[in-house]
Amino acid sequence: MPLDISAAHLQQACRTLQTQVPQVPVLGICCDYSQMEELPPHPLLQGQRRLGFYPGSSIGNFSPAEARALLEQFGRLLGSGSRLLIGIDHPKAVERMEAAYNDAAGVSAAFARNLLVRLNRDLKGDFEPAAFRYRARWQAAESRIAMALESVRDQTVELAGDTWRFAAGEQLITEYSVKYTLERFLALAQQAGWRLSRRWWDPAGELSLLLLERADS
Ligand SMILES: C[S@@+](CC[C@H](N)C(=O)[O-])C[C@H]1O[C@@H](n2cnc3c(N)ncnc32)[C@H](O)[C@@H]1O
Repeated sequence: MPLDISAAHLQQACRTLQTQVPQVPVLGICCDYSQMEELPPHPLLQGQRRLGFYPGSSIGNFSPAEARALLEQFGRLLGSGSRLLIGIDHPKAVERMEAAYNDAAGVSAAFARNLLVRLNRDLKGDFEPAAFRYRARWQAAESRIAMALESVRDQTVELAGDTWRFAAGEQLITEYSVKYTLERFLALAQQAGWRLSRRWWDPAGELSLLLLERADS
C-alpha cells in the first residue's frame, strides 16, 4: 500500500510495482500521511500484522518535534504488534553534506525555485525566480541542512494580495533536512512508542535502516 501526496507519482509507482510483482495486490492511497487519522477500511488490511516502510530519510524533513508526532501517528496507523522499517541519514563531514545539497547539476536549486513558480501559479504571486540564489548550509546546533532562496537584491513581491519586501541577502527557508545520530533518533523513537529490533548500516556508518517494533508489543 504505497502512500503519497502526489497522485500522478503514486499512480505511476503503483503501475510499475504491479507490473514487476503481479502476484502482489497493490493499493495506492493518495494522502498527506502526517494528517491521516486511520487507514481506509479494505479487505487487504483486515487481520494482518502491519509493517510500515518509510525509506530514504524523509523523516529528516520534519522538525524533531514533528518527527516524534509522525512516528506516533505511524504507530496509530499501523496498530499494535506492528513494525516500522525506516531510513535515517547520520551527520557526516560538513563539506560533503553541503556539496550534496548544493549539487553541481543544480537539481536542488531547480527544486527550490520551483516553489516560487508554484507560488506564482497557485497564490497569484509575481516572484522572479532568477532574483533568488539557492543556498544550502549546515546548521550544527540543530544538526540540520537548511535550504534557502536568498534575495539577490532589494525587491518587493506581490503574493496572495499582500506585498512582501526582501532585503538583498534575505533568506526564504525552503526546506530542512535534519541528520540524526543513532542515539538521538532512538531516543526520539522511544518517546513515540517504538524500540529498536534490528539495524542495517553501510560500512562507513553514514546511514542506517532500522527495524522498529512497538514498545508495547
Ligand atoms: C524525497 S521523496 C522520497 C524519496 C524516497 N523516500 C526515497 O528514498 O526514494 C518524497 C516523497 O514523499 C512525498 N511526500 C512528502 N510529504 C508527504 C506527506 N506529508 N504525505 C504524503 N506524501 C508525502 C512526496 O510527494 C515525494 O513523493
